[in-house]
Amino acid sequence: MDLVPSGGLKGPGTRSSLFYNPSMVQNRDVSVLFLSTLLEGGMLPGRDRKDILDGLCGSGIRAMRFALEIGDMDGTVRYMGCDREEQAVEHAKRSVLENKAPVEIFHDDLNVHLQGKRYSYIDVDPYGSPVQFVPSALTSLLSGGVLAVTATDTAALTGSARKASMRRYWTQNIKTEYLHEISCRVLAGYLARCASTIERAVQPIFLYSSDHYVRGYFRVVKSASKADSSMRSLGFLVLDPPAAPLQFQNLEELSKDGGGRQVLGPLWLGNLEDPSFIEAALRTLTSGNGPVRHLTTVKSLESMLRRALGESGLPPGGYDLNVLASRLKASPPPIEKVIDCLSKRGHRANRSRFSHTLVKTDAPFNDMKAVFMELSGGG
Ligand SMILES: C[S@@+](CC[C@H](N)C(=O)[O-])C[C@H]1O[C@@H](n2cnc3c(N)ncnc32)[C@H](O)[C@@H]1O
Repeated sequence: MDLVPSGGLKGPGTRSSLFYNPSMVQNRDVSVLFLSTLLEGGMLPGRDRKDILDGLCGSGIRAMRFALEIGDMDGTVRYMGCDREEQAVEHAKRSVLENKAPVEIFHDDLNVHLQGKRYSYIDVDPYGSPVQFVPSALTSLLSGGVLAVTATDTAALTGSARKASMRRYWTQNIKTEYLHEISCRVLAGYLARCASTIERAVQPIFLYSSDHYVRGYFRVVKSASKADSSMRSLGFLVLDPPAAPLQFQNLEELSKDGGGRQVLGPLWLGNLEDPSFIEAALRTLTSGNGPVRHLTTVKSLESMLRRALGESGLPPGGYDLNVLASRLKASPPPIEKVIDCLSKRGHRANRSRFSHTLVKTDAPFNDMKAVFMELSGGG
């Protein structure tokens, strides 16, 4: 399938690399897998018609992959792309024709295009932050629809660019060793707050972060009471070094606890994944059928989803073995041994998709410390 010119680029792409960025292949592979899982499982709203929009379509590659690799399973699905750049739109229209892809391309500003339209699924994949498109995308989705967003402004989300984090995400951010998970929680927290202002609740289906971008999939439900409940998943990370376990507190706990401590937030403290959706996506992925035949990153996708399933329901944060090693002045033991030991002591313990050195567990710090010291030969 010759859909787009290849650029040989690394990183998230820049405004000048208008058309195609190969390093975003996994980003698109995940979206093909997830959208096909949502459509196959009847998990999107719109009984007679499901309108799927790649809101910032650039070359049109993502929308074309959706149309050609997933297709229209039951005669109800329509694929669309939108971009405001003339050059991108001309290119996308030409590619759609050449590849006989059933995709309608609109030449418009996304926020203008979304006025008065209702979609079942919207993808927002900008250069930089998605925030300028989030309110109109949340408004335009049918209740129960899915919003997929990419953010490439990782400096703001991870806390390297603190002013930008406050401006864009209304979060007092600080760079920590837990930056991959924190960046997902900052993005999810922002979406939840933004959605609640228009009486919608976001339910994270799956978030992950790479070196170049953060990507989140959210179900968006119209309900003031669900928006109220989602606000209870917001809170803060209390940074009180040198305590090794991360302390997260919701707004109520934080206000009881008094001020004077360094805090990061607000951010999302709830689940960053829906385990039943991940199980469905894994079934689609391991079937090897349908759209999965076209994916090129199957192995890494499977490993990421299995880790996500393992860490689902465990508290935010966890223990980074390198951080513990430096705080406890001991060498980090092999992560699999730590997990095994914690499990034998009756705790849930798993690896995390956010970092190769992170242990997600419900073990209290003293148990974690005992296992760590025993395995590193210091206990
Ligand atoms: C990162 S590229 C999209 C890449 C594409 N989704 C993919 O998977 O290859 C971002 C695109 O957003 C478009 N864009 C930026 N601001 C826009 C706006 N306000 N409305 C519509 N398109 C916009 C740019 O022209 C550019 O083509």
